[in-house]
Amino acid sequence: MISLIDKLYHERALSYDELYMLVENRNKELSEYLFEKARQVRIQYYGHDVYMRGLIEFTNYCKNDCYYCGIRRSNCNADRYRLNREQILNCCNIGYALGFRTFVLQGGEDSYYKDELIADIVSTIKAIHPDCAVTLSIGEKSYESYKMFFDAGADRYLLRHETANCNHYSKLHPANLSLENRKQCLYNLKEIGYEIGCGFMVGSPFQTIDCIVEDLLFIKELEPHMIGIGPFIPHKDTPFANKSAGTLELTLFLLGIIRLMLPNALIPATTALGTIHPKGRELGILSGANVVMPNLSPTDIREKYMLYDNKICTGDEAAECRMCLQNRIESIGYNLVISRGDCVSI
Ligand code: 5AD
Ligand code: FES
Repeated sequence: MISLIDKLYHERALSYDELYMLVENRNKELSEYLFEKARQVRIQYYGHDVYMRGLIEFTNYCKNDCYYCGIRRSNCNADRYRLNREQILNCCNIGYALGFRTFVLQGGEDSYYKDELIADIVSTIKAIHPDCAVTLSIGEKSYESYKMFFDAGADRYLLRHETANCNHYSKLHPANLSLENRKQCLYNLKEIGYEIGCGFMVGSPFQTIDCIVEDLLFIKELEPHMIGIGPFIPHKDTPFANKSAGTLELTLFLLGIIRLMLPNALIPATTALGTIHPKGRELGILSGANVVMPNLSPTDIREKYMLYDNKICTGDEAAECRMCLQNRIESIGYNLVISRGDCVSI
């Protein structure tokens, strides 16, 4: 198995069967070896720098009904909110003062925000903060809409593919959503010129090792700039309320593999990882991750953006999370840097 990690390190790729073997036979010793290699690679490209993205969760209205997600349309217990243009701009100003140079506007698929409004918000942020990158994470849209946001100045787009296996996709989503369209969106975003991010949940219901291998091979083929993976965590008001959460152990192992597959990628240590273990994000960094995405949303709406139960930081001000993360990252010998945090070339 160690030789498979060496092969992945040198060739940045493994076959389906090799990936399957690696994931299936993982153990503590193998993980340690993998993480050591993953750190070596990330230090080669990014040194000990950790980039931060300010996450602005601007709406929890969503027209979709994904079975895993706490803000799904059918969840009538969700207390819905929308931030207006001024509130979003205000979050960016607060974030800028705290050293954020990337803002991620994330929300449910909410048709209240017409394309023109999104484009206007993006271009206004870029006008006020020309040294910042704007990332959108607002789901599946038409080619034309994506193009309009890009022309307005959006630099990046995050759209997790959720699973690269069609059958698995249909077990996580209602029939009106398809993996085919999801993938098409990602290819469209790439063609338009965005830096793109895909990703999936680790340990989502019905996920098998085959699904994971397909995810890894899809990521390798797509070659996104960013890959967001975090454990699935059940939400009490969803059809998956009684399913078990993904593990820290498997999430870290996959972070390490992804670092070796895409050496210069931007890989966040996600909030979900920090939710399932008190040191989850630090362990994520030590397994190959190089990005953190603290929340910049106003505290009064934070706990309403509950994709899963027990999400961390819902009571903390942006400045508190910023300092908390800085301490955590410095405690493991890394530095939180003030930078757009662009992907370095290979
Ligand atoms: N557990 C973990 N992650 C989740 N997401 C949505 N619901 C959950 C959950 N219950 C992730 C999805 C989505 C991202 C914004 O959050 O992967 O793409
Ligand atoms: Fe939010 Fe630690 S990152 S309180």
